[in-house]
Amino acid sequence: MLAPTANGSLHGPETETILEARGVTKRYRTGASFGRGHEVVAVKNVSLTIHAGESVGLVGESGSGKTTLGRLLLRLEEPSEGEILFEGTDISHLGESQLRSARRHMQIVFQDPFSALNPWMTVSQAIGEPIWLRRGLRGDAVTREVERLLDIVGLPSTSKDRLPKEFSGGQRQRICLARALALEPRLLVLDEPTSALDVSVQAQILNLLRDMRTELGLTYLFISHDLAVVAYLCSRIGVMRYGELLEVASREQFVDRPAHAYTRALRDAVPEIGRPLPEDDQDAAAWATAMNGSGAASTIPTAARGL
Ligand SMILES: Nc1ncnc2c1ncn2[C@@H]1O[C@H](COP(=O)(O)OP(=O)(O)O)[C@@H](O)[C@H]1O
Ligand SMILES: [Mg+2]
Repeated sequence: MLAPTANGSLHGPETETILEARGVTKRYRTGASFGRGHEVVAVKNVSLTIHAGESVGLVGESGSGKTTLGRLLLRLEEPSEGEILFEGTDISHLGESQLRSARRHMQIVFQDPFSALNPWMTVSQAIGEPIWLRRGLRGDAVTREVERLLDIVGLPSTSKDRLPKEFSGGQRQRICLARALALEPRLLVLDEPTSALDVSVQAQILNLLRDMRTELGLTYLFISHDLAVVAYLCSRIGVMRYGELLEVASREQFVDRPAHAYTRALRDAVPEIGRPLPEDDQDAAAWATAMNGSGAASTIPTAARGL
């Protein structure tokens, strides 16, 4: 096992590729009922390699194809062209049953923790369902596993019998994370997981994500329109625009010497880039005030558009 470096990346000859996209394109037809329809190329010829233990960020303005790429990588969408290899297996052409077993090791967490949970299922049921269905545990073993997962995401075991509506947004996102972890994933795609949360809660969830990754040895693809957040959590950053992956750079390269003019404009519009997050939750509110006060971009700034 390699030790993570200070910036969270893993280096060394043992670094393995966990996920590889080769020339992936996704086209959607829209408005097909009116004549010939219109084609949207949501993702254009994207190639990307993610190594085990890495945290790779994906940034870009709304509509640039980030979510579609994330979904393609987990084969929640079928690519129009190209291949996706998860741990060396081409999953772009797998049948449904083979896909199901491959997917166990890759999970996605979405932006909206309110719609992601069934309002009628208790926390115990929500987290226990995948454990019961997919890992075959029963009875007390499920309960113990639910409690272990709640502990990892920082919720008390007394949360078990409550319904999602009894929790705040940040707590619900913790429940979603516990549910994703229930299948023992090796790769997590996090699609704007903190974008729907208050900024102080955001910092707490980011801290949790950082700790979870090192403690559980997870690999992240972290999707966000918020550069400051991505720069905090990710050791490599990919920039998307109009469906293309323009550039993938280490965080240091991204901050010091981005190759692409668009990436430079993104960086220059966020002076707080690289600002460390507080080490504990107590300081999170202070961090939030500082970020807000200094005008940190919560969306891709208009200055960076249209380049
Ligand atoms: N199911 C779909 N049908 C048609 N167009 C889609 C679909 N999903 C995404 N798109 C289009 O693909 C482009 C990229 O969308 P998306 O991946 O959601 O971008 P982002 O996550 O960066 O905001 C957008 O133009 C969007 O309208
Ligand atoms: Mg999106």
